Amino acid sequence: MKFNNILVSKNNNLATVTINRPKKLNALNKATIEELNEAFETLQDANDVKVILLTGSGDKAFVAGADISEFAHFSVDEGGFLARKGQEMLFNFIENLSTPVIAAVNGFALGGGLELAMACHFRIASNNAKMGLPEVSLGVIPGYGGTQRLPQLVGKGKAMELIMTAGMIPADEAKACGLVNYVVTPEELLPLAEKLAAKIMRNSPVAISSAIRAVNANFEDGVNGFDVEIEAFGKCFGTQDFNEGTTAFLEKRKPIFPGL
Ligand code: COA
Repeated sequence: MKFNNILVSKNNNLATVTINRPKKLNALNKATIEELNEAFETLQDANDVKVILLTGSGDKAFVAGADISEFAHFSVDEGGFLARKGQEMLFNFIENLSTPVIAAVNGFALGGGLELAMACHFRIASNNAKMGLPEVSLGVIPGYGGTQRLPQLVGKGKAMELIMTAGMIPADEAKACGLVNYVVTPEELLPLAEKLAAKIMRNSPVAISSAIRAVNANFEDGVNGFDVEIEAFGKCFGTQDFNEGTTAFLEKRKPIFPGL
């Protein structure tokens, strides 16, 4: 994969995607969103990738938002198209990926940057990270799912406060309200992500992808998450991973999941 705005590397079944526009604090322009879509699509299909880590380059920002210079002169139609296309190509796409995606928030995660982190399956942060949805300070609202995912993660009242004040919260406050799961020093961030990824990798990839689908079903309109869970649960009984997991348990050994 050859990209201009992101870096992709693989090590021990962990793929790391790094948004690489540090001079623009990794702001999400159109090209970066397209490259991220292509990278995630490819990584999801790669048999040697069990977990994906998403982070930003440099020591200042994860992503400081959508690239304001690109949409400052947009019309009503162009604004709507920007949000719809972005949500479909990247934000919803990541949320529904069958491979687990961890966001390692290593600095500013603002606007589209926080929305990107929230689309990942869970988040960890370094103690210099700052998070917020400052869109209303620009006369616009979050358009990449922020008005939906922030209340899901932190509750409606806190989300309303964060969105209306356009304020930034530090990492420890983000942890206290459930936005991130862990806060560590910048040096500890990637090692922690690797440790969590290694724990995930010990488990059945097929079961994990079903669990992602079932958890996400809770937030889909017109979908009964319990029914999705029941169906996905039943399907597990027909997988080689289930056979291996239960057999290994009974034989008192560690499972080697084929991922089938
Ligand atoms: N879109 C486009 N460019 C951005 C950007 C964004 N969202 N965020 C930062 N940049 C650019 C700046 O324009 C600047 O570019 P320049 O050097 O060519 O002028 C560069 O990144 C560095 O940013 P700067 O503002 O100088 O850094 P800072 O440390 O003074 O401030 C922030 C950091 C994050 C507080 C500030 O950049 C900011 O408020 N960014 C916008 C955040 C935002 O509103 N995001 C939501 C967008 S919907």
